[in-house]
Amino acid sequence: MMRLDTILSLIPQCESVVDVGADHAKVAIAAVALQKAKYATATDIGEGPLARAKAAIRAEGLEQNIQTVLTDGLTGVEKHSVAVVAGMGGELILHILDTAEWTKDEDVTFVLQPMTAGERLRPGLSEKGYRIVREEIAQEGEKLYPVLLVRCGKEKIQTLDQHWLSTAGESSPLAGGYLDKIISRLKKQYAGLLAAEERDETRISEVCAYLDALEKRRERI
Ligand SMILES: C[S@@+](CC[C@H](N)C(=O)[O-])C[C@H]1O[C@@H](n2cnc3c(N)ncnc32)[C@H](O)[C@@H]1O
Repeated sequence: MMRLDTILSLIPQCESVVDVGADHAKVAIAAVALQKAKYATATDIGEGPLARAKAAIRAEGLEQNIQTVLTDGLTGVEKHSVAVVAGMGGELILHILDTAEWTKDEDVTFVLQPMTAGERLRPGLSEKGYRIVREEIAQEGEKLYPVLLVRCGKEKIQTLDQHWLSTAGESSPLAGGYLDKIISRLKKQYAGLLAAEERDETRISEVCAYLDALEKRRERI
């Protein structure tokens, strides 16, 4: 499935969804148009992207159902049943979860789609008291994107490979291919690190440990 379709497929039927970092507000518009949510909010930190969101919402005639807010993450945004944070780096996603108190409520569902640093997002979620309920790998051309369904709860990350793909993600049809891509990328990185004039021994050990854990996991999937 394509990235946006996968994000939409993980949004449960709900009262309201907030599309954080909405840009063109594609998620908010589709969630309302497909009647997954009655209402939506599209937020963005940038005036340009928010103007694009407003124009797209107007073009669909959905101004009554979708409001827009210029803000950092969820700052000042009232509680929604579902929050989607997609198309951003894993560390920015973790920051966004800290921008409202209601993100700690047990009845809120998150759909998170990191573009980079997913390996920092997964352990970061566990440290903050979230668990990954489901993880799907979306495909667009050659590119693979993880999409996480997350709720409050305890989840202990036991091994390093779980930084790259959660246990829940193992059932995704593209899980094996996704791990292959990560392993191949890390192998290239490892070779580059070994060949560098100034060796970064800490990073070399980190990448080596990741590769070891990921190759063992790949044997099982
Ligand atoms: C690559 S776009 C992703 C758009 C859409 N969510 C998607 O998945 O296709 C990232 C958007 O996030 C916005 N953004 C970055 N940091 C943000 C923050 N702290 N709070 C809200 N929006 C942010 C950017 O302005 C940009 O419009």
